[in-house]
Amino acid sequence: MKALTWQGKRSLAVEEVPDPRIEFATDAIVKITSTAICGSDLHLYELLGPFLDRGDILGHEPMGVVVEVGSDVTDLAIGDRVVVPFNISCGHCFMCRRGLQSQCETTQVREYGSGAALFGYTKLYGQVPGGQAEYLRVPHADYNHIRVGRDLPDDRYLFLSDILPTAWQGVEYADVPEGGTLAVMGLGPVGQFVARIGVHRGFRVLAVDPVPERRAMAERHGVLAYDLTDDVVAELRDLTEGRGADSVVDAVGLEAHGNPGIKAAQTAIGLLPDVVSQPLMERVGIDRLAALHASIDLVRRGGTVSLSGVYAGDADIMPMKTMFDKQIGMRMGQCNVKRWIDDILPLVEDSSDPLGVMDLTTHRVSLDRAPEMYETFQKKADGCIKVVLEP
Ligand SMILES: NC(=O)c1ccc[n+]([C@@H]2O[C@H](COP(=O)([O-])OP(=O)(O)OC[C@H]3O[C@@H](n4cnc5c(N)ncnc54)[C@H](O)[C@@H]3O)[C@@H](O)[C@H]2O)c1
Ligand SMILES: [Zn+2]
Ligand SMILES: [Zn+2]
Repeated sequence: MKALTWQGKRSLAVEEVPDPRIEFATDAIVKITSTAICGSDLHLYELLGPFLDRGDILGHEPMGVVVEVGSDVTDLAIGDRVVVPFNISCGHCFMCRRGLQSQCETTQVREYGSGAALFGYTKLYGQVPGGQAEYLRVPHADYNHIRVGRDLPDDRYLFLSDILPTAWQGVEYADVPEGGTLAVMGLGPVGQFVARIGVHRGFRVLAVDPVPERRAMAERHGVLAYDLTDDVVAELRDLTEGRGADSVVDAVGLEAHGNPGIKAAQTAIGLLPDVVSQPLMERVGIDRLAALHASIDLVRRGGTVSLSGVYAGDADIMPMKTMFDKQIGMRMGQCNVKRWIDDILPLVEDSSDPLGVMDLTTHRVSLDRAPEMYETFQKKADGCIKVVLEP
């Protein structure tokens, strides 16, 4: 089959690779019809090379049709149309039973001290072949699927794989009081949905992003969007009676604009041999914290900061005095995809499209063009906001 493979920093190739096969009786094979590129994939493209091997298949936002099931799979049949959640979880362990599927104890990657295995996401998360490919092997297939109807187009359902539940969890964890103000840092695909979910729930939503077309897209959905300037935090504070927002979601993560020194360090570490760079990246702070620190600055006293954006350094410098004194609540983590599906599925099937899932994808192209689209998405060129690939 054809698959998108990692070859090196900012270097990808669509290659012919062996078709995936059923390896365990609980596996299924899905023929992929749509598969998106995520902001998280950009971290692999740019930064996390030390944890990837040449030839690793990327991708964790796929959907398609079941073409084969293992002998122990009882809840899926050939021909079922499914979205595949990006975390691989068992559905019955201590964590899964508590709705913490991203911490699944059956698939945890203990060698690296990580939570549940993820599709297409480095050795830290199990080095499981990903879904930017013609076919995908889905482990624990009875649980790791979201079965969907046949009538609506893929775009309605595809984002259930990751960014919609991620945004939903981001808003849940932000604990916004009724009628309160939610600030959103970043209007990439995740921030778009965070902001729209906030509007859908009746909050006043203020968002920040340096890219004009991302702000314009958010404004189409009732969001008040602001450029990333030196005074934006002060400007938003003024809009909230000088107190700051009740809740802030950071939908940016570790590659934020605004930390040139750390960017240079990230690049330098990435150029070292894997044996040297891996422990450095695991144990030292490598994150660009501009968006996180701005979120802490912007939230009101006693408010909540919720991190949807990914962070990876274990020695990041945090403003503990401010966090303690302002009595900030904080929640974060990989999304527990399956936990939120019952809440979101009716919204994506609603004919009025309340979260605007049909207004996110700017580029729908064949899988062959994936390497070029990673570059376009990373550079935010050509108005690119979300890319969907068709194998
Ligand atoms: N928690 C999860 O389970 C989960 C799931 C999916 C994605 N993510 C993470 O969410 C983050 C966003 O993903 P995305 O797909 O939207 O990617 P993206 O890279 O397209 O979005 C990031 C946005 O932040 C903006 N930005 C950069 N620096 C900023 C700053 N200092 N202040 C405000 N905005 C700034 C960028 O212009 C961009 O629009 C990434 O870190 C990604 O890894 C997490
Ligand atoms: Zn993703
Ligand atoms: Zn589990």
